[in-house]
Amino acid sequence: MKPLGTTTQLNERHGMSTFSASLPGGTWTLGDQTVTRFGYGAMQLAGPGVMGPPADRDGALAVLREAVGLGITHIDTSGAYGPRVTNQLIREALHPYPESLRIVTKVGSTRDSNGGWPPARDPEALRRSVNENLQDLGLEVLDVVNLRLGNAQGPQPGSLAEPLQTLVELQQQGLIRHLGVSNATAEQVAEAQAIAPIVCVQNMYNLAWRHDDKLIDQLADDGIAYVPFFPLGGFSPLQSSALSAVAARLDATPMSVALAWLLRRSPNILLIPGTSSAAHLRENVAGAGLPLSDSDLAELDKIGR
Ligand SMILES: NC(=O)c1ccc[n+]([C@@H]2O[C@H](COP(=O)([O-])OP(=O)(O)OC[C@H]3O[C@@H](n4cnc5c(N)ncnc54)[C@H](OP(=O)(O)O)[C@@H]3O)[C@@H](O)[C@H]2O)c1
Repeated sequence: MKPLGTTTQLNERHGMSTFSASLPGGTWTLGDQTVTRFGYGAMQLAGPGVMGPPADRDGALAVLREAVGLGITHIDTSGAYGPRVTNQLIREALHPYPESLRIVTKVGSTRDSNGGWPPARDPEALRRSVNENLQDLGLEVLDVVNLRLGNAQGPQPGSLAEPLQTLVELQQQGLIRHLGVSNATAEQVAEAQAIAPIVCVQNMYNLAWRHDDKLIDQLADDGIAYVPFFPLGGFSPLQSSALSAVAARLDATPMSVALAWLLRRSPNILLIPGTSSAAHLRENVAGAGLPLSDSDLAELDKIGR
């Protein structure tokens, strides 16, 4: 991403205050790019069902500016959100981007008229999607592009060689800085690593959904980020009596506990909780810093096992 401004300059332009304290979890190096482990997932900014524009456009722009104002340097997005809506909101809210900001996007699925997410992984669709992301975000090169695999039911087995090779070619053409995979099986992650350097894996994972425990530890050993989507449960909020009990004991919300637990789970976990509310975003940043004792962790660990 071109160095086009600092966070302070951006804040001055939009009349925001600069949050100087460091965010919970510190930072992680994504390829050669440093990001805050506390990031922001932009999917919730599109309209209902992640289709169309938001009801409150100014509110959506304010959430994005708040994220940067709080010091977040990692925003997760996709051309499929809206479609193209969240990318255009990101550009409107934040361009020219602060030098420190990294925008991570995804290609590999599109939207149909029913709001479905059909795969779009042939070379032509991937090239078109990368170009649309560049255009909508107002960038000459995308920081990180995740190849989204599987379908709405989750990861599906099968080789990713052909679509990943198309992205490698686009990377060689200078349109993509780093590659990742999303909604992938452990076998597909291993296949991807054999084809090209991978900087992140973005899969569904949270306190109650822990299919990737082993994969997370392997990726940590390899220095690769694991970015859980649905960290708060996604469209159905996390619900567990054990989680509620720990939250009540700590005088915190279950969401805070869920985010703090993820930051403690492994140093390669990067958070991208989604919200359409600036107040929720502030709550989540504060909540992720909640200290958890060893006995809290042991109790929470039982939920998804
Ligand atoms: N790779 C993939 O296939 C994939 C799939 C899904 C998502 N993603 C990415 O992952 C990100 C995170 O997932 P997600 O946004 O779907 O789910 P999530 O982060 O687990 O949860 C978001 C939901 O939690 C609510 N919420 C957030 N903070 C809250 C708070 N403090 N109090 C009460 N409610 C709160 C939000 O509602 P409000 O808007 O009212 O705050 C929203 O309904 C997405 O934004 C997207 O970037 C990737």
